[in-house]
Amino acid sequence: MADASLPQPTAIEERPGPIFRRLLRFDAVDSTNEVAKLLLGHGADEGTILVAKRQSAGKGRHGRSWASPPGGLYVSLVLQPDPDYVATLGLLAGIPVVKALRHYGVFANLKWPNDVVFMEKKIGGILSEGVYRGDAFYAVIGIGVNTGIDLDRLPEEARARATSVKREVPEYVDNDDFLEYMMKHFEDIVSKFRTGTRDRLIKDYRGLCTTIGKDIVVATPKGKVAGRAYDVTPLGALVVMAPDGGKSEIVDGTVEFTT
Ligand code: BTN
Repeated sequence: MADASLPQPTAIEERPGPIFRRLLRFDAVDSTNEVAKLLLGHGADEGTILVAKRQSAGKGRHGRSWASPPGGLYVSLVLQPDPDYVATLGLLAGIPVVKALRHYGVFANLKWPNDVVFMEKKIGGILSEGVYRGDAFYAVIGIGVNTGIDLDRLPEEARARATSVKREVPEYVDNDDFLEYMMKHFEDIVSKFRTGTRDRLIKDYRGLCTTIGKDIVVATPKGKVAGRAYDVTPLGALVVMAPDGGKSEIVDGTVEFTT
């Protein structure tokens, strides 16, 4: 990280691992995912965590923005998986977020693919991106959680559809403690993923995903698909059953509930 033109962390910390051994701290960045991408191969490699206190241009899925006032948790994780598995890892990354929220008293669930919701209000989200640097392939998994956020710090249009840990539980939750709890579970998932117990992980995902069984419309890049959410495949696609019994597998989209 000697190159002064690259974003400079305020602190670099070692972690015991087993997978994520380096933590880069930033005060304010545009987006931790963008900073991670700039630093790939220059301080951010497999097993690096980047965490910022706030973001000025936080990114959400499908080109949306992610409001990132101080108090929230803004993290990007760098891995070097097989390119075929970026989406699955991004999907599975929802599990440790839910586990950490539940640990701190918010009984959250997942809305496919990886919106983290409590009482149908959004409390966290994940944006996973695959990037090549030369021949090296990286996954940057960005996780945002509304931990210590006052809802009036969110844009007005987002307030009614969002909540935060601070809003839902009376106790103060320290972001570093939350991150550490979440990372232990994520490392466990990545280890299991590497050693091949993937079906079990998808079963765990299904257990936390409240989309399954609901009547939905999914806006996909190819148009809208309506039906009942039936299952999630081992690669993370959502299976939707149309009223005539026909099934379609959707790999990317935004779900709206119709019941
Ligand atoms: C979504 O639900 O649309 C995904 C939101 C992802 C937000 C996180 S915050 C940390 C990382 N940096 C970003 O710019 N986005 C992700």
